[in-house]
Formats: sequence, structure tokens, C-alpha cells
Amino acid sequence: MNILVTGGAGYIGSHTCIALLEAGHSVIIADNFYNSKPKNVEKIMEITNKTITFYEIDVTNAAAVERIFGNNQIDGVIHFAGLKAVGESTKKPLKYYYNNLVSTIVLTKACIKYGVNRFVFSSSATVYGDNSVPFFETMNLLQTTNPYGETKVMCERILSDVAIANPSLSIAILRYFNPIGAHESGLIGEVPNGIPNNLMPYITQVAKGKLEKLKIYGNDYPTIDGTGVRDYIHVLDLAEGHVVALENLTNGVHIYNLGSGKGTSVLELVKAFEHANDIEIPYEIVDRRPGDIAECYADVSKVERELGWAAKRNVYEMCRDAWWFERNYKE
Ligand code: NAD
Ligand code: UFG
Repeated sequence: MNILVTGGAGYIGSHTCIALLEAGHSVIIADNFYNSKPKNVEKIMEITNKTITFYEIDVTNAAAVERIFGNNQIDGVIHFAGLKAVGESTKKPLKYYYNNLVSTIVLTKACIKYGVNRFVFSSSATVYGDNSVPFFETMNLLQTTNPYGETKVMCERILSDVAIANPSLSIAILRYFNPIGAHESGLIGEVPNGIPNNLMPYITQVAKGKLEKLKIYGNDYPTIDGTGVRDYIHVLDLAEGHVVALENLTNGVHIYNLGSGKGTSVLELVKAFEHANDIEIPYEIVDRRPGDIAECYADVSKVERELGWAAKRNVYEMCRDAWWFERNYKE
């Protein structure tokens, strides 16, 4: 298939492009490089030894998107392009609602106009809000704690309504848990802007000496050791999950959790990183971070049953590959 990957130069998108190319598909990337660099596209080609067509466009720009659909035979779309900084979304909500909703509307309109029936959407475990774990796909979605999360809830709703009105569409909504790690080449990985908000990039920057010590946000949660529990998934497993979802799409909307199904605490992840890489990570316990929940992990039985997909890589491999990328990375 010939797949249009929006946000394909970004963290998850770039790893998914590799998985798509390795599975024999062709890739067209559309990215405005707001949160990524053009050299990522070159690195994808270097890793796979395959060519990619790419367009530097904003996918909220309907005319630019339509030109891509008009000039290429597209069989499916994977829509990663989105803004994802939770904290920033509370300060600039309109920027988030505009970018994430309009891009989704523009792309689905183009799909309908050009008869492209396969659509895969990047959603997030954040849509579950503070439900009790494990999260499963049929749960009622509770209020999320930030505008970013609300954009994902709203896009899911838009896609579900569009699929009802357009029965030839096949849509997969993939709810990611916490992707970490990097491609084993060390050439591509997660490059946060400024001081990282997320745990793994913070740990790797402490390991590199760029940051002094990790701040652990609270050790008084009702969890195994008091620190927050998340479902970490290797970004390559996540990437492969997209290929499987795309190849097995049938009409209608299908929602899948993409996680490992296992919870890991902050302290457990720190220990795994230290063990995997033989590096000590200094840390201090500080107050809870507002908006954080105690535990977040997936029930993965639906995706295993319906798509035969399960995450294969363990936390040790995630820590090893995240550090390998950070070690090699130069600005
Ligand atoms: P990322 O920022 O690395 O990648 C997103 C890419 O989209 C970037 O290359 C950016 O330049 C591009 N982009 C953003 N808005 C655009 C626009 N209007 N037009 C064109 N390009 C645009 O983020 P990521 O971690 O790879 O996340 C990909 C998707 O997965 C996002 O939709 C995100 O919300 C979702 N998601 C991410 C996580 C996570 O922890 N990383 C978790 C759940 C869901
Ligand atoms: N944490 C720390 N110190 C840090 C950073 C994080 O202790 O410096 C803790 C958090 O309190 C939490 C855990 O590490 O317990 C994970 O935090 P992250 O910020 O890495 O991830 P979150 O689960 O908070 O959120 C991420 C994305 C969201 C997405 C969600 C679910 O940032 O966009 O995963 O996929 F919605």
C-alpha cells in the first residue's frame, strides 16, 4: 500500500515509517517540522535503504493536503501530526484545539473526496481520565485533565460520527500508552524541546549529565512503591502495531489500546535503566505533579484477540535503546 503518514518525521511517526517500509509499503510523509527535523526523513531512508516522498506542509491547510491526494495514489492515511505538550495545552488551548481538530477534519474530508478508505488515528490513554485500571476500550471516557486530552476525545468522536455517515471508511483509533525507547540503530529517537516533561527523556538527559537529577513527582500514591505507575511500550512495538492495524482494517471504527498491559512504577523504571545501562540516576522525591493519576495501564486483550498483536520488547530493552539513542544524539 501507499500510505500518507502525517507527522512522519516525529518520534512515533518516524519509527512507524520504518516499520511500514520494512513491511513492503510505500510512504509519503507530510510534516511541517514544527516539532521535528527534516534530517529525520533522511535517517529513515538511511536505515531502510528506501526512498520516501515528503511534503513540508501544515496538514490544517486543506488546499495543500488536497494537492497531495490529487498528485498521489494513496491507499491509506496514518495521522500522527498533532501537538502533544500537556502543559502548553493548558496555556494555549486554542492552538491545540485548532491544530489537532482541524488537521483531523481536513484529512478525513480529503479521504472521503478522493475515495481513500483506510485511516489510522493516534489517540492516547489520556482519554480514559481517572478510570480504574486496567483501562479497556469500552469504558466510558471520563473528563481528561487538560485541553490536549480533550482534543483526542473530540477527534475520536468526530471519526466515529464520520464512519457512521460513510460506511465505506475503515478507521482504527489507536490509544497509545507510554511510548519510550528508540530504533536500535541509535539514529532516530525522541528529541524533546527544552527540558523534558516526560520521564524517560528526563532520565536519559540525567544519564548524559545534561540535567543534574531526576525529580520524582510524589511517592505517596497508592501503588507498589508510592510512585506513579505507567504502561511503557517500546516505540518499535508501537510502530509495528500500526502496520498490523492498517493491514487488518475492516469497515467501521475500531478502537485498540496499544500498550504492554503491564504497569511499571517510576522507581522501577529508574532501577531498570540503571541495571540495563550500568549508570546511576540520582533522584529526589518532590511533590506530586498536578493532573497526574496514580496508575495507568492497558487491558490489551482486544488487540491481541482481534489483530494478533502484542508488545514484544521489555522494559530493559526500552531503557537500553533510549540510552543508546541519547548517547549518540548530537544537536
Ligand atoms: P512528535 O511531536 O514527535 O511528532 C508529531 C509530528 O507532527 C512532528 O513531526 C510535528 O512537526 C508534526 N506536526 C504537528 N502538527 C502538524 C501540522 N499541523 N502539520 C504538519 N505536521 C505537524 O509527537 P509523537 O510523540 O510522535 O506523537 C505522535 C502522535 O501520537 C501525536 O498525535 C500525539 O498526540 C500522539 N500520542 C503521543 C504520545 C507520546 O507519549 N509520545 C502518547 C499518546 C499519543
Ligand atoms: N515523572 C516523574 N518525573 C519526571 C517526569 C515524569 O516522576 O520528570 C512521573 C510522572 O509523575 C508519572 C510518570 O513519571 O508518574 C510518567 O510521566 P510522563 O510525563 O512520562 O507520562 P504521562 O503518563 O504523564 O503522560 C504521557 C504523555 C501524555 C499521554 C500519556 C498516556 O505525556 O501525552 O502519557 O499515553 F497522554
